[in-house]
Amino acid sequence: MALILAIETSCDDTCAAVLDGPRILANTISAQADAHARFGGIVPEVASRHHLELTVPVVEAALAEAGASLDDVEAVAVTVAPGLIGALLVGVSTAKAIAAPRRLPLIPVDHLQGHVAANFLEPEPLQPPFLCLVASGGHTLLAAVRDRAGHEVLGQTLDDAAGEAFDKVARLLGLGYPGGPALERLAAEGDPGGFELPIAMSRDPGLDFSFSGLKTALVYLCRELGPDGVEERRADLAASFQAAAVGQLTAKLERALRGGEWGAVALGGGVAANGSLREAVAALCERRGLRLKLVPGELCTDNAAMIGSAARFAPRLPYPDYLAYDAFAGGGQPAA
Ligand code: KG4
Ligand code: ZN
Repeated sequence: MALILAIETSCDDTCAAVLDGPRILANTISAQADAHARFGGIVPEVASRHHLELTVPVVEAALAEAGASLDDVEAVAVTVAPGLIGALLVGVSTAKAIAAPRRLPLIPVDHLQGHVAANFLEPEPLQPPFLCLVASGGHTLLAAVRDRAGHEVLGQTLDDAAGEAFDKVARLLGLGYPGGPALERLAAEGDPGGFELPIAMSRDPGLDFSFSGLKTALVYLCRELGPDGVEERRADLAASFQAAAVGQLTAKLERALRGGEWGAVALGGGVAANGSLREAVAALCERRGLRLKLVPGELCTDNAAMIGSAARFAPRLPYPDYLAYDAFAGGGQPAA
């Protein structure tokens, strides 16, 4: 067997996967949500310490589920940027420690390219070119995907990420962490037209996003309503927020599609697991006669299968060239 072992520890999920080409043999995730819930968000130092404890057991679990051993692995892929630096370092160190004694190549992977590359996995891998909307807890961007090796950013958020806004509004409404899925569940019981919220950037001719104004609008609204009013209208607040956030994401996607260059659309990132966004994008694609690729929710949120998928089309560093290789908190091209 010539398998790729992939490791992802850029944020609060400890993930390992085993891939045979585009086929996922194992995709193991140990979420740390409980460890961070009492803080209402991710604490970087807590995330790093949990990764230290969890990475090796998660790798072992992934190999066991794949029915494979390290002897079957031909390359080790790992997320090197962007993310929490302490969290990334645990994954990178582990990947090096697995690869080096076996003289295996190491494949450094950009986390955002990972979200794009989730669409190259079986079943029905999507072939470029396509336009990909990536919306996660740390990033929101429109990616032009012309080949499987990378993407061009056409527009991105100028402030908060979409998932960050979901998490902050969820917190405002007394929902737990992570807030996105909880907010979606609450929104299902509410009226999306209950409160009129602005669709940010709708008059902006570019392809950038902004979510901080929407979050602030919710803060003021909750202040006006007072604790009892918020309690009474929680579901309407959640539904109205979700409608405004999804409205902005789909409006910018539609603007990017107007040139007519794209025949297919894909989604990526944790917010792409949101049913309301998936429905809105499906309706948009139907209207415009475009192919839409939607990967299952567990491939939208952080996972290592997407990192292994990106690694198939990324340069490999041979042993020992990667021994001094580092992780990078910011995006961009890491230097070897
Ligand atoms: O891609 P991801 O797992 O991690 C990052 O790279 O950031 O995305 C996590 C984000 C969180 O902000 C979470 O609240 C959001 O995705 N999210 C959702 C849903 N599921 C996860 N947001 C809205 N609706 C969901 N169903
Ligand atoms: Zn992510």
